[in-house]
Amino acid sequence: MQNYNQLLLSNKAWAKEKVYDDPEFFSRLTNVQTPQFLWIGCSDSRVPANQITDTQPGEIFVHRNVANLVVNADVNLLAVLDYAVNHLKVKHIIVCGHYGCGGVKASMTQTDLSAMLNVWLRNIKDVYRMHRTELDGISDMDKRTDRLVELNVQEQVFNLAKTAIIQRAWKEREAPHLHGWVYGLKDGLINPVFEMPAGTRIDHIYEYDNL
Ligand code: CO
Repeated sequence: MQNYNQLLLSNKAWAKEKVYDDPEFFSRLTNVQTPQFLWIGCSDSRVPANQITDTQPGEIFVHRNVANLVVNADVNLLAVLDYAVNHLKVKHIIVCGHYGCGGVKASMTQTDLSAMLNVWLRNIKDVYRMHRTELDGISDMDKRTDRLVELNVQEQVFNLAKTAIIQRAWKEREAPHLHGWVYGLKDGLINPVFEMPAGTRIDHIYEYDNL
């Protein structure tokens, strides 16, 4: 691991190289950002959104938290979602988990970790309970974790669709489309596991009829 001075030195070198390759690089991005994608990913240091998709600054609006959760009462996530959908008008929202996710693994144990982690990981335990029959049937624990990672991504996409922010955007501009992806730490490849095009019907109890 590099120390923090190395980070600052690397930053100087990076900025210099960018201007050398493309003199307008920073001036183009100074006053406007028009990303087409909102990325909701895991905080895990091995899953950096821009690097694994080979995208540049300005291309992806990013929110990351432990185990890429979309929690109904998370003001941070909802503010990001509101801004991305209503102001940036992103066309796609990607919830990207990753195989071997430590947060997902921890949620499958009965260990009391700490007050805040317990509260956060409870959301994944709820996903496990919803899919208990399928998950309990997988005896290999790594495979079971990886399947929960996929199901977790799917549930978080559903959670996006349950918000009035998404439902109103679907009604007004037939976007954004929602995607659930899982990144492989072992091979660097993204597995698109779930998709919800704009306008997809969800359980009626979650649909607002006065938008
Ligand atoms: Co993770």
